[in-house]
Amino acid sequence: MSNIILSLTDVEVAFDALKAVNGVTIAVPKGERRAIIGPNGAGKTTLFNAITGVIQPTSGQIVFDGHTITRLPPHKRARLGISRTFQITNLFPTLTVGDNMILAVRGLSPRKFSLFGSPDADAGEARRIAAALEASRMHERANIPVKELSYGEQRQLEIALALVTEPRLLLLDEPAAGLSPAERSIVAEIIRSLGRELTVILIEHDMDLALGLVDFVTCLHEGQVLVEEPPSEIRNDQRVQEVYLGKPRHA
Ligand SMILES: Nc1ncnc2c1ncn2[C@@H]1O[C@H](COP(=O)(O)OP(=O)(O)OP(=O)(O)O)[C@@H](O)[C@H]1O
Ligand SMILES: [Mg+2]
Repeated sequence: MSNIILSLTDVEVAFDALKAVNGVTIAVPKGERRAIIGPNGAGKTTLFNAITGVIQPTSGQIVFDGHTITRLPPHKRARLGISRTFQITNLFPTLTVGDNMILAVRGLSPRKFSLFGSPDADAGEARRIAAALEASRMHERANIPVKELSYGEQRQLEIALALVTEPRLLLLDEPAAGLSPAERSIVAEIIRSLGRELTVILIEHDMDLALGLVDFVTCLHEGQVLVEEPPSEIRNDQRVQEVYLGKPRHA
């Protein structure tokens, strides 16, 4: 049995002439925390979209947990255990955190989602919701309408929604963007506390936050893998500094 849960082989995503992802090959071991870094437009979000199925690669292969998923639609990838942060804008603002969690759980269950179905979670749903709210430090906010949450709490709820499906791979695209330092440290603590049965890939521009959380870093530049290194080496990597700053640090 391979310990690689996700592998991308020579993945390319082209938008007309632009190769937003240009021949990316990466392998992520089970349970790893991996950061994807790189300057604006490097192709990080596009890479996530290719992994979740929001867009299909122009070429290359993606294998998750032994399944070739390159051309699978997003809901089938979700069923295999790939989860990404939910867009908060998809939520019902007047409903409570807990009720939104119930709807999110129902959306994935085989039985047809219905707002008019049973209003209460069954035991299995309730357990998963409680665990996801606890993991995202939102368990004390379950009865609060979503519209009354602070921005930081909304971001935490996005993580809760991604966790409630009990995924095996969690993709977080800039989970701390726009947050205050205090809110950032909560998000960091949430990620740090996730169990190692879950593999986490994190896109994050805040280098201190990202490097403090992960085992390994992939730096993308112009759609290609520039370097892959442990966080301790990334900080002083001149190639990384050059693409981030457009020039060497000491130039
Ligand atoms: N749907 C699309 N159609 C056309 N071009 C796109 C599309 N999505 C992304 N791009 C382009 O692909 C390139 C990579 O974009 P992407 O959003 O993946 O970058 P990113 O690394 O996530 O950047 P950021 O750090 O700013 O979020 C950019 O040049 C972007 O303009
Ligand atoms: Mg992006």
